[in-house]
Amino acid sequence: MASKQINKIGVLTSGGDCSGLNSAIRGIIKRSLKAGIEVWGIQEGTVGLMQDPLGVVRLDSKKGDDFNMLLRGGTILKTINKGDPFAYLMPDGSYEDASDKIVAGYQKLGLDALIAIGGDGSMRIIEKIADKGGIHFIGIPKTIDNDVPVTDFPIGYMTAVDTVMQSIDRLHDTALSHNRIMVVEVMGRDVGHLALSSGIAGGADVILIPEIAYDINIVAQHIRNVYATGRTHAIVVCAEAAHAIKENSTFINSKHGNKIYGGIAYKIGEQLEQLTGFETRVTVLGHVQRGGTPVALDRLIASAFGVKAVECLLSGKDKRVLVWRNNTIQDIDLSEITNNVCSVDTNGDLIQVARGLGINFGDAQ
Ligand code: F6P
Repeated sequence: MASKQINKIGVLTSGGDCSGLNSAIRGIIKRSLKAGIEVWGIQEGTVGLMQDPLGVVRLDSKKGDDFNMLLRGGTILKTINKGDPFAYLMPDGSYEDASDKIVAGYQKLGLDALIAIGGDGSMRIIEKIADKGGIHFIGIPKTIDNDVPVTDFPIGYMTAVDTVMQSIDRLHDTALSHNRIMVVEVMGRDVGHLALSSGIAGGADVILIPEIAYDINIVAQHIRNVYATGRTHAIVVCAEAAHAIKENSTFINSKHGNKIYGGIAYKIGEQLEQLTGFETRVTVLGHVQRGGTPVALDRLIASAFGVKAVECLLSGKDKRVLVWRNNTIQDIDLSEITNNVCSVDTNGDLIQVARGLGINFGDAQ
């Protein structure tokens, strides 16, 4: 079967933003223009295609050649991480299936294919829309949570690890000066990758992740042991979804109806101060973890994904997701991403490394 002719493509970013998205958009623009393909940016995820007039912007060589696209965090296309187009919240409070509007917008713009940069949740939604509208589509994984399966790294993760690590470095200084326990709450949604990697890189004493339910008494004893060695400060890194044995994760209610994790560090901080008698402070890093100039690895991965996504389309590929594996860029079936979850492997190397470094997870091991 002859490959589909690709003359005009759309690109969108969906889900929470992260650093490196603009580097990927730049890669898509540059490779497309080289192949004579016209590129349109769709604004705010799929929302731009629902709008009348369409929320779209032509991405020309001026944007592709803009050096700032490599450097700036966030996304020039804007993004959205709430709601489901199949049950879309209307201004009057009712819900409607907006997927037909998205397909109609895609057709109105005359696109031959779509490149979607998103996390696993966004991929699942876009897969459904693509199936419905016969949309030719390639996915690029991004997330600071690192919960997209198969890829060694999605766009944005390493920059977030670096940001958290640098924050922990700073907390060491002040913790040491004041003889304090510092509890740092780190994002990551349902998984503990960000807390684990940044905690190891930042020299944490304790790392608490949702994959290993903790016992606060074990954490307190570990910190007493640390202080008994003569060191009078300690760093506890906790993932936002970390929880004690037989307890659930802590949520902050969101106005928009989607559940937002948060607040566990305050509970842990209070308990540790009470149990150990050591002065304790809490830092919730929040959205600083999502912004900033992408580190080299994110710029590299994002640029590679951008170029390869266009090349996948040129070679007739459809419903593939790009992954970075063993320093190569591969495209895999979308189902490998959408049907799997990617939690921290509690028997995996990084957990073993952390234990080898004397880091405690609040469990009996
Ligand atoms: O998925 C990325 C992420 O930053 C999570 O780590 C976090 O739980 C969530 O998004 C926060 O979402 P929001 O930007 O809506 O507060």
